[in-house]
Amino acid sequence: MASTRCCVPAAQIPSRCCRRSAVRVAAQQQATGPAALGRPAPAVAVNNAVAGPHLSTKDVGNSTNIRWHESMVARRDKEMLLGQRGCVLWFTGLSGSGKSTVACTLEHLLHERGHLTSLLDGDNIRHGLNKDLGFSAADRTENIRRIGDVAKLFADAGAVTMTSFISPYRADRDMVRQRCQPGEFLEVFMNIPLEVCEARDPKGLYKKARAGLIKNFTGIDDPYEAPTQPEITVDCFTADGHPRSPLDMAEQILQILDDMGYLRDPRMPTLAAYGALQRKNSDGVLDYAQL
Ligand SMILES: Nc1ncnc2c1ncn2[C@@H]1O[C@H](COP(=O)(O)OP(=O)(O)OP(=O)(O)O)[C@@H](O)[C@H]1O
Ligand SMILES: [Mg+2]
Repeated sequence: MASTRCCVPAAQIPSRCCRRSAVRVAAQQQATGPAALGRPAPAVAVNNAVAGPHLSTKDVGNSTNIRWHESMVARRDKEMLLGQRGCVLWFTGLSGSGKSTVACTLEHLLHERGHLTSLLDGDNIRHGLNKDLGFSAADRTENIRRIGDVAKLFADAGAVTMTSFISPYRADRDMVRQRCQPGEFLEVFMNIPLEVCEARDPKGLYKKARAGLIKNFTGIDDPYEAPTQPEITVDCFTADGHPRSPLDMAEQILQILDDMGYLRDPRMPTLAAYGALQRKNSDGVLDYAQL
């Protein structure tokens, strides 16, 4: 069930109070102070942001004396509001494999169905946040690290978040996976052969790379490490050998998201759990607490 954090000490919340009341009390306290409610002031300031010397800090990387500030609205509550689960759909594949095209198509499909989405696209991010980075191995790693953290922020807010980056190195993708909670990171492998991508070559980059005008080009003079266990693999051709359209690919991903329970209220069971529950409760009444 949803866990809700609240800055009001439990003793100050009347027993019949629900979570909303707790939030209201917190708001009143901020507006008028605890004395106005006829209660003693708490020993420690209720808001972490203004709390004093009792709170510990630590050093992370080059950042010293910092402390994680927990959101007062739990992620689960945001997901319930949106009727979906936040996740990171990490598209990976060669340049020209269709990451941007399929992610964009999927975003439209999700939007039409009333889902909140966010799409972080490789070229777009390099226009701003990552414009200081090039395409060396070190810069590619830093590119992915930053995108991974930004994507995670969107997923924390409950959005179905898509990223479309070549992200050629397995270790970099795994680094993002490890930063995410279990089930939050879904690797989407665009399994499109190099010959197909090179024939498309919409930006003329393969031609330039073959001519030696671009260095470190993935698939030509830089490696692409395909995922070993992607959650979703998007194949180029149908079983009977026909090329697949971007819409067909996006619909495949949409179906998987739906089946896995990402596109419904997190209190709702997934299809698998729903089946198990129906077997359990012969009267057909769903007991969400069991899930
Ligand atoms: N399923 C598909 N069938 C045919 N053409 C496609 C398909 N998917 C994408 N394309 C076309 O392939 C080209 C490359 O697609 P896209 O730009 O989405 O690739 P990308 O993986 O994002 O590449 P990059 O890494 O360079 O950004 C585009 O011209 C797009 O219209
Ligand atoms: Mg792209």
